[in-house]
Amino acid sequence: MKRIALLTSGGDAPGMNACVRAVVRSAIASGIEVRGVRDGYKGLVEGNIEPLLRQAVSRIINRGGTILGSARYEAFKEDAAQEKAIRMMKEHSIEALVVIGGGGTFRGALDLAKKGVRIVGIPATIDNDIAASDYSIGFFTAVDTAVQSIDKLRDTSDSHQRCSVVEVMGRNDGDIALFAGIATGADIVVTPETGFDQHEVIQSVQEAFEKNKRHAIVIITENITDVSRLAEDIEEATAFESRATVLGHVQRGGTPVAFDRYLAARMGQKAVALLAEGATARILALQGGTISDCGLEEALSAKKESRRELVDLVTQFRH
Ligand code: F6P
Repeated sequence: MKRIALLTSGGDAPGMNACVRAVVRSAIASGIEVRGVRDGYKGLVEGNIEPLLRQAVSRIINRGGTILGSARYEAFKEDAAQEKAIRMMKEHSIEALVVIGGGGTFRGALDLAKKGVRIVGIPATIDNDIAASDYSIGFFTAVDTAVQSIDKLRDTSDSHQRCSVVEVMGRNDGDIALFAGIATGADIVVTPETGFDQHEVIQSVQEAFEKNKRHAIVIITENITDVSRLAEDIEEATAFESRATVLGHVQRGGTPVAFDRYLAARMGQKAVALLAEGATARILALQGGTISDCGLEEALSAKKESRRELVDLVTQFRH
């Protein structure tokens, strides 16, 4: 194999740059050239492809975002766009592709693999919703950002004897909420898995007041309810004043934590090794501490294990 290409796609995640670096440096070490594709699959279709040399990935290991750019590109679901991408790969003499991203990125990868493209995916999404891998690149940085923000919210909530309702990202996955909830000692965590019971939320906030706490923290995954409305309802039903905060896209940026850089290095290196061995349609996965790989199709249909144990832990610590 003489030349591969690399792209980052979907919502960016801290650690993507560290992974770009790992792929480039591993490929160069194996005598393989790397082409960088701008803005995900969109750049592949449009032929926005450039050489990615050793110096281009210097001093990016600690940078958030992605130097390659990223995009959500719905048109890539269409056959015509995929065929055009394959033509572009041929024009640029690209023999295989590494894609760094989440579920949407891997669905695009599977379509290309079915059309004969040699492809390997690396899970990088703050949502941690790729069931095949225990953790995805970017997740722990996002949790850390949420934790730092919630610690600050606790300071002001405690001064004013308030309840803070904090909405975190995760799309349909509650891991950011749960991990941040455990790390900040939240009173209650609401996720797609726990479901939303307003009565239970209000009760846990009132219990906090009755235990003479000067603050209460409610963490909730996005897309579940209107958090401003929830804060108003809490204020009405309990002795706490209440404020809502939506953390939003701050969770996607910033310097990646060490663990995300570690995952990025290990997965980036293994992706190149897999392609060099002739593998295709695989994704990298952290499974019980080991960096392994599994089939793209299998990874896309895998279901995440229940987080009941973590939910129970939050509830237990409240008492
Ligand atoms: O998938 C990452 C993520 O940040 C989700 O948590 C969130 O729902 C979504 O992307 C937001 O997407 P966009 O940046 O396109 O608004």
